[in-house]
Amino acid sequence: MSLYDRITALHGHRPWGAVLDAGTGRASMRWLLGLETARWTAVTGAESMAAQTRAEIGTRMREQDRLVVGNWADPGLLAGERHDVVLADYLLGAIEGFAPYWQDRLFSRLRPLVGRRLYMIGLEPYVHGVPEDPAGRLVNEIGRLRDACLLLAGEQPYREYPLDWSLRHLEQAGFRVVDAQTVPIGYRERFVHSQLDLCLRSVDKLRDRSLAAPLLAHVADLRTRALAHLAREGALRHGHDYIVVAEPA
Ligand SMILES: C[S@@+](CC[C@H](N)C(=O)[O-])C[C@H]1O[C@@H](n2cnc3c(N)ncnc32)[C@H](O)[C@@H]1O
Repeated sequence: MSLYDRITALHGHRPWGAVLDAGTGRASMRWLLGLETARWTAVTGAESMAAQTRAEIGTRMREQDRLVVGNWADPGLLAGERHDVVLADYLLGAIEGFAPYWQDRLFSRLRPLVGRRLYMIGLEPYVHGVPEDPAGRLVNEIGRLRDACLLLAGEQPYREYPLDWSLRHLEQAGFRVVDAQTVPIGYRERFVHSQLDLCLRSVDKLRDRSLAAPLLAHVADLRTRALAHLAREGALRHGHDYIVVAEPA
């Protein structure tokens, strides 16, 4: 069951009404378009993400629907609005790329926009510590290498936050937590290739080519090891996503 299907189930028979996708993209938009909404608003911080989302929407946008490019750190964005349901889908982790060090403000920024319910999807951080199991070590190594390459290329890695951090900050922001679920992750080829290809693109940008060569060899070695694990085990089973259901307190 996908994380979106879980949210649909958690919502039950309640009407969706006006829905705000506060960190939109192709996947959340695909889900949103399948719901019976009165209207929807989708926000992204990046024009490139808006273009991808627009491609997903095609001709399915109604007169009352909106796709907005803006930054939640801007107090004017959707100021004074209220939406029955707000979705924050992997938004918290991405904030570092758009409003660095502003994560503690996110939930209080969204709070007045939430009429009835906030559904938050988060990823438990996997780039810390050194896991003892082979799958965990590989996922951790991939994350560390990806972030290192991004930093060396002058780019900003995402910063994920644990479930207890999110629960604490939701409550501090005036939400009552109604439910929380953790969903175990089994990473597959798509994860390995997408994250390591991100490394390759970052390494391509390095001016110091003597640094690039060993990094490229390291990326190739890690890819081989991760794919060998996948061939043996079918997935890199490590960590979890989480869903939090919160309502205005
Ligand atoms: C990882 S993506 C979310 C995944 C997306 N829902 C999907 O379907 O793939 C994070 C989204 O949050 C947006 N975002 C991150 N920080 C933001 C900010 N400060 N203001 C507005 N949007 C932000 C990004 O531009 C992007 O659209």
